[in-house]
Amino acid sequence: MPHPTLVTDLCGVRLENPLVLASGILGVTASSLLRVANSGAGAVTTKSFSVDERPGHKGPTILSFGAGLINAVGLSNPGVDAAVAEIRAYKAISRTPIVASIFGRTVDEFGAVAERAAAAHPDLIEVNVSCPNVAAELGTPFEADPATLAAVTRKVKAAARSVPVSVKLSTNFGFLARAAQAAADAGADLLTAINTVGPGIVIDTNVRRPVLANVTGGVSGRAILPIAVRAVFEISRAVRIPIIGTGGVASAEDALQMLMAGATAVGIGSAVYDHGVEVFAAVGRGLTAYLEREGLDRLDSIRGAAHVA
Ligand SMILES: Cc1cc2nc3c(=O)[nH]c(=O)nc-3n(C[C@H](O)[C@H](O)[C@H](O)COP(=O)(O)O)c2cc1C
Repeated sequence: MPHPTLVTDLCGVRLENPLVLASGILGVTASSLLRVANSGAGAVTTKSFSVDERPGHKGPTILSFGAGLINAVGLSNPGVDAAVAEIRAYKAISRTPIVASIFGRTVDEFGAVAERAAAAHPDLIEVNVSCPNVAAELGTPFEADPATLAAVTRKVKAAARSVPVSVKLSTNFGFLARAAQAAADAGADLLTAINTVGPGIVIDTNVRRPVLANVTGGVSGRAILPIAVRAVFEISRAVRIPIIGTGGVASAEDALQMLMAGATAVGIGSAVYDHGVEVFAAVGRGLTAYLEREGLDRLDSIRGAAHVA
């Protein structure tokens, strides 16, 4: 039996392994994304960026509550020009694929950011239509209405030219399969699922107030793994395009669940807070050990395995 490989084809992009740094975890700077790439990630995703710089919400913006994280960072980012400069700097020093995560306040703004992001030649563009923490300023997330979701997807696809486009969904609106279908029909090349769950609230009982300055925040990490696995399972039944399964993954066992639910690649976010960037190499080693134990030479053998009756 040859040595097993974790090499993954994601819409024609070659990943050394299926593990992808999730958006928002380590910013947009080339240096921090490079650190993750050099720690064994198969690809890295930037923090979501918009046309203009955004300061984000006041602190506290993030809290570990024992079973995961709750955050309301508020999509703080340096704006598209600074983000594009970082993507170019990263591409000059790393061969690990980079995903540019974008968002806008309007359908047209999504197109404008996508066009400028595409000029820096990221390997993929991810469209954040599902952040639950900015509704007060940006309105209900675009994914909440399938027609709007389709319009955003079409706009970004046209602007992205040859760069494959992923639409990032959440489970926060209760019609995931329909949303996935709308994005796929509008031309999405792949989907990322899921964004944070909620919103939720954590109360500091000493001061009898919500901990986050924004009051509510999106829930991620351990607590959401079964929800994320269900989301990937459901989406992979609804559409035929690849999925980056994201949410609560911290171990090889968790990643295997995502792959068996039908994910092609696996996002890791909150686990970086708990385990550091070493989590990528550790999960990668665990996946290789699993393949060896099972006598398999590639992950394709188990992708979607949980669907077989
Ligand atoms: C602090 C923090 C910031 C985040 N920022 C973004 C963001 O800018 N864009 C985005 O699409 N998702 C963002 N997310 C969501 C993650 O990319 C991911 O979808 C979610 O946390 C579930 O994965 P996890 O449980 O592995 O963290 C953020 C999550 C956290 C914890």
